[in-house]
Amino acid sequence: MFHVLVLFCLYWWHLTGVFGESVSVMEGDSVTLKTNVTNIQQADDIEWKFGSNNSYIARIKKQWQNFSIFYVPDGRFRDRLKLDNKTGSLTITNITTEHAGIYKVEMTGAKLSSKTYNVSVYAHLPVPVISSNSSQCSSSSSSSYCSLLCSVVNVGHVTLSWYKGNSLLSSISVSDLSISLSLPLEVQYQDKNSYSCVLNNHINNQTTHLDITQLCHTCSGTAALTLTLIYSQWLCLHAHFLVQSD
Ligand SMILES: *[C@@H]1O[C@H](CO)[C@@H](O)[C@H](O)[C@H]1NC(C)=O
Ligand SMILES: *[C@@H]1O[C@H](CO)[C@@H](O)[C@H](O)[C@H]1NC(C)=O
Ligand SMILES: *[C@@H]1O[C@H](CO)[C@@H](O)[C@H](O)[C@H]1NC(C)=O
Ligand SMILES: *[C@@H]1O[C@H](CO)[C@@H](O)[C@H](O)[C@H]1NC(C)=O
Ligand SMILES: *[C@@H]1O[C@H](CO)[C@@H](O)[C@H](O)[C@H]1NC(C)=O
Ligand SMILES: *[C@@H]1O[C@H](CO)[C@@H](O)[C@H](O)[C@H]1NC(C)=O
Ligand SMILES: *[C@@H]1O[C@H](CO)[C@@H](O)[C@H](O)[C@H]1NC(C)=O
Ligand SMILES: *[C@@H]1O[C@H](CO)[C@@H](O)[C@H](O)[C@H]1NC(C)=O
Repeated sequence: MFHVLVLFCLYWWHLTGVFGESVSVMEGDSVTLKTNVTNIQQADDIEWKFGSNNSYIARIKKQWQNFSIFYVPDGRFRDRLKLDNKTGSLTITNITTEHAGIYKVEMTGAKLSSKTYNVSVYAHLPVPVISSNSSQCSSSSSSSYCSLLCSVVNVGHVTLSWYKGNSLLSSISVSDLSISLSLPLEVQYQDKNSYSCVLNNHINNQTTHLDITQLCHTCSGTAALTLTLIYSQWLCLHAHFLVQSD
């Protein structure tokens, strides 16, 4: 009997989730956290709480026949909350990272029940920018490598990586908020492989493909021009010589 009770408690604990039901949402999107009430008449009172302080953010009282929305003191929920007047479900619109955290709904009435959500908010990812890290075509024949840099600004909790085809070449991760990142890569001018720079977090990614011909200017253009110049100079000299000798 005791074991059955322990098992039951574990099951219940698992169901209600001490850690809450995990919800991932992109910044700027809306998310709806549901109660399991289909008709509000079943619950006398529905209260939504947020954060470690368990502050009320929204509440419905049956006897009021109306809805009241509370704001946590810093007003971060102002104009972002919507309560469904049939189900008591809470919708947070235009969510930002400051709305991430633990949400708890408590329903009191004939039965007492509660539900917890752990909401994670992920920022939209910028598109990584690939730039040439070599100032210009250097005439020193020693460098057959093109030096590149993949960069992103204002990112947090992301990984920035270079891929050659499908294989990972290098990557860098940050857990801070709002920093700039860049990751270098050297390729040979003649390299025909496809390279890409990928920025990703837990739920999203952004990819930029490397266009070697556009970013890595070889010196051949300049060399050809120089050769032409020398050749025409030689022609002129020669013509001059021919005219003189005539
Ligand atoms: C909520 O989810 C995040 C991300 O999955 C996790 O890091 C955090 O520990 C969770 N919080 C709780 C109280 O379970
Ligand atoms: C919790 O309450 C304390 C004092 O009332 C306040 O300083 C703190 O910012 C609150 N934390 C959250 C997450 O609301
Ligand atoms: C809800 O209704 C009650 C009584 O009907 C009233 O006292 C209260 O001010 C109302 N609340 C809102 C937010 O309208
Ligand atoms: C519930 O909301 C709908 C539309 O949002 C509205 O028409 C209706 O009057 C509301 N019911 C109550 C009891 O406030
Ligand atoms: C969403 O929130 C951001 C930051 O608070 C704000 O700048 C933006 O105007 C909001 N967008 C909408 C559609 O409300
Ligand atoms: C769902 O509602 C029933 C009553 O209808 C309640 O017993 C149960 O605990 C609720 N579950 C959750 C997760 O809120
Ligand atoms: C390329 O970038 C590195 C840092 O990532 C820098 O130290 C180096 O000077 C740069 N080279 C050129 C040619 O700009
Ligand atoms: C990027 O996300 C897409 C789906 O959105 C997925 O198919 C792809 O594998 C991801 N790429 C990487 C490198 O994570």
